Amino acid sequence: MDIRSARESRVTALSDAHPTPTEAHVDFAAESVSTGTIAVIGLGYVGLPLAILAESRGHRVVGFDIDKIKIALLQGRNAPFLSNEESRAFRKSRMRLSSDERILDEALTHIICVPTPVNEEHVPDLAPLVGACTAVGRHLKKGALVVIESTVNPGVCESVALPILERESGLVCEKDFSFAHCPERVNPGDATWTTRTLPRVIGGAGPTSNARAILLYESLIDASVTPMNSMKEAEAVKMVENAFRDINIAFVNELAMSFDKADIDIMHVIRGASTKPFAFMPHFPGCGVGGHCIPVDPYYLIRYGKENGFEHRFLIAARQINNEMPRYTVNRLEQLLRRKNMPLKGAAVALLGLAYKRDVPDLRESPALAIETELNRGGAQVRKFDPFVPEQSTAHSLEEALSGANAAVIATDHSVFRSLSPKDFLSHGVRVLIDGRNCLPKEEFVASGIAYHGIGR
Ligand SMILES: NC(=O)c1ccc[n+]([C@@H]2O[C@H](COP(=O)([O-])OP(=O)(O)OC[C@H]3O[C@@H](n4cnc5c(N)ncnc54)[C@H](O)[C@@H]3O)[C@@H](O)[C@H]2O)c1
Repeated sequence: MDIRSARESRVTALSDAHPTPTEAHVDFAAESVSTGTIAVIGLGYVGLPLAILAESRGHRVVGFDIDKIKIALLQGRNAPFLSNEESRAFRKSRMRLSSDERILDEALTHIICVPTPVNEEHVPDLAPLVGACTAVGRHLKKGALVVIESTVNPGVCESVALPILERESGLVCEKDFSFAHCPERVNPGDATWTTRTLPRVIGGAGPTSNARAILLYESLIDASVTPMNSMKEAEAVKMVENAFRDINIAFVNELAMSFDKADIDIMHVIRGASTKPFAFMPHFPGCGVGGHCIPVDPYYLIRYGKENGFEHRFLIAARQINNEMPRYTVNRLEQLLRRKNMPLKGAAVALLGLAYKRDVPDLRESPALAIETELNRGGAQVRKFDPFVPEQSTAHSLEEALSGANAAVIATDHSVFRSLSPKDFLSHGVRVLIDGRNCLPKEEFVASGIAYHGIGR
């Protein structure tokens, strides 16, 4: 498909002072090159919804993933992490998916969506990205466009990915092919801000790359596409967004721990502060921060600063505070049990929720797993229940988890847990409750006689 014909395009500059892609660049890109078939590399939470969206916009799409088992499931149109709308489109989809990289020969546009985790020492692990770039480079054609959506440090696209693409293909960027970074912002489970509706920023390796990538994304999404001055700036945008969130959550987590001692309900305070119409943005405390992005990306920035001789003290402190929260949650439980003359050791504890956030089956970096470790370390008998992750649950139902338990800890605010009443606990004999997500009405629970603690309330 010709990119320009896919959608009437408009290239907006970030600022007049910036070297904006000129109309000449845009015309060159649009007239001389089409998107051709789009290959999405890495078919997870980010890649698969993008592939489905691209197909729905009239592009021919193929998908490549090194995970053979996943490919077999996806070939059967089985993907539990899609929204209902995406699932419906996927069931009807004609896209071909393969774990054989030769499928990349069919594509002119390659969008890389592979994971960018950190290792146990919190050092960025770029192996999946290197692997994906190597595969794409081996199959790169003249006139191709490569976009990296994976979250990476400033400089990684230029100093790690680009040399691999040029080496493996024997082609030269900006002359023979285009290359850009368009960081993904999707928030799985969010029906409002989706791959289609989220605004994007783009940083190209040069003006042609920038213009072509903008045209591609304008053909894909119903939101603004803002060009940055460089790939490095686009990479930094994503880092800043996630670090911003981590720091703000750490701030309210610190306040929660302080207010617990002062007997101030932080949820009431945040509600009060939120009445200020400017300069306050509510964030909420909880039993920990999980997922593939927020507890991971700040380490990328910390590492990047270190390599440049800079120490990100603020980011390091935020990570430490947020990492402490699972232990703090179990300490709160221990305090409550002690008041009932019950030691944590030997107590039967229902751990409600394993996923890192509401109504999704994603366990990555989930604080619930750290809470489980702490409970086991304290000698508790843990019964785990998560309706979204039955394969990791030790109880088959909420009733089974609660029945005969001495205490319960809510680690994930799944909708099914948010609607629980004091009776649901008391009828199973549970009289101690830690609400690690502050998702239940405290006053009602306290009035019922349940020993209740939230985080900061
Ligand atoms: N999940 C999110 O909410 C989210 C949001 C914004 C950005 N991101 C970023 O997007 C990127 C992808 O995240 P995700 O959540 O989709 O990850 P994911 O683990 O769900 O999916 C990644 C897929 O890439 C595959 N893969 C790994 N190495 C590969 C290779 N060399 N070639 C081909 N496929 C390969 C894996 O098998 C997996 O199926 C990460 O950089 C992440 O930080 C994720």
